Amino acid sequence: MPAIVLVGAQWGDEGKGKATDLMGGDVDYVVKFNGGNNAGHTVVIEGTDGTREKYALHLLPSGILTPSVTPVIGNGVVVDLEVLFDEIDGLEARGVDTSRLVVSASAHVIAPYNRTLDKVTERFLGARRIGTTGRGIGPTYADKMNRVGIRVQDLFDEGILRQKVEAALSLKNQVLVKIYNTRDVDADRVVEELLGYADRLRPLVRDTSLVLEQALDAGANVLLEAGQATLLDVDHGTYPFVTSSSATAGGACTGSGIPPTRVSRVIAILKAYTTRVGEGPFPTELFDDDGETLRSVGAEYGTTTGRPRRCGWMDTVIGRYANRINGVTDFVITKLDVLTGFDKVPVCVAYEVDGVRHDEMPVNQTDFHHARPVYELLDGWEEDISGCRTFEDLPSAAQAYVLRVEELVGARVSAIGVGPGRHEIIQRHALLD
Ligand code: GDP
Ligand code: IMO
Ligand code: MG
Repeated sequence: MPAIVLVGAQWGDEGKGKATDLMGGDVDYVVKFNGGNNAGHTVVIEGTDGTREKYALHLLPSGILTPSVTPVIGNGVVVDLEVLFDEIDGLEARGVDTSRLVVSASAHVIAPYNRTLDKVTERFLGARRIGTTGRGIGPTYADKMNRVGIRVQDLFDEGILRQKVEAALSLKNQVLVKIYNTRDVDADRVVEELLGYADRLRPLVRDTSLVLEQALDAGANVLLEAGQATLLDVDHGTYPFVTSSSATAGGACTGSGIPPTRVSRVIAILKAYTTRVGEGPFPTELFDDDGETLRSVGAEYGTTTGRPRRCGWMDTVIGRYANRINGVTDFVITKLDVLTGFDKVPVCVAYEVDGVRHDEMPVNQTDFHHARPVYELLDGWEEDISGCRTFEDLPSAAQAYVLRVEELVGARVSAIGVGPGRHEIIQRHALLD
């Protein structure tokens, strides 16, 4: 049976958590394959009595909210153990069973000194900062690539753990003290802190690549859920204003140990407009009342840091690029309801860079910084669409918007979000075969 990849098409916060949760009933495993607790997924579940339960997930895969799903933290993830157990405890306190969770023995651990380094580096960069979430993500991936990282499996061998922490700190302490002018970090305290999690962690740890291969062989459906998004991918995003992991479909394979030949579908989540958190270029960004309306109606404040998200119109150059990089089979357009009430809805179809039209993402980053959006003005609609459950229920202008975006991004739109709730969605094509 197939593995399905779900990615963000823009700069994150497209509604991946909601889409994963929606598919939860039909999949057996949900695997987080990249990133860490820089992610923030809000999932809203309606009770039969009309009440709404809101869950904010950072490290656990969104599939954790579905009782039949086995949630997996893959090898490509960086794990903050304090956050992991806080999140587990928080969900258990609300009656969510988290006992099925499995964690890769090869996932890297966010050591406390990497949280410190993330923050002091940003401060040091000043105007050139990335605007990171400050969770230690970048330094932990840097350690992984630099081959001085700490892995989950290291917590079960105190001697090895001590050696690795000492090796990492021998350089880092020099940097912390001599360059950043802060205090050095005591290796014993780090080892003690990490060992404190070992007993609780041990029963969750598996060779998750093997678990997933056996599950696929047995006919299970596996959903590989990205954190972050295409334009935040370390290779394919707006470098250096990116996160430090592979958030695109290719990363789903390296971050889970599932080979590409197992993947049958790639679903990309595309918000009906665009948002971005942190620094970096954003051609369709709005600085006027329309941007403020998108932020307030769309509740565009970060799930992780609470920062106001930068808001702008739909950019289909980016959508086409996400299609190309990920090999998208299906788009899910989310938050169409947020566009209700605009007289005209502009859609960016191309860029103009120093007087030259670009129909595709400019490969040169400086060109992207200079890109001016070329807009097509589509008609808006006034009707409340949150109750629509079929495509035909939508006002004709909203239908036209979806069809034009579908044409411009180049792959079919299989579902459309019309509200935050689990059931506030229009399905045009099944997302699972
Ligand atoms: P993620 O990081 O991609 O999982 O997205 P976030 O959870 O950070 O941000 C998406 C926000 O939009 C969440 O608050 C969701 O509850 C909400 N949301 C998702 N789909 C829809 C939709 O179709 N309409 C509305 N109004 N809100 C939605
Ligand atoms: P989800 O999964 C939006 C952004 C940060 C910053 C840059 C690097 O909820 O879509 P990092 O802490 O990762 O080193 O920060 O990436 N960023 C996100 N923006 N949604 C996210 O995750 C993000 N994760 C990281 O704001 O600009
Ligand atoms: Mg988010």
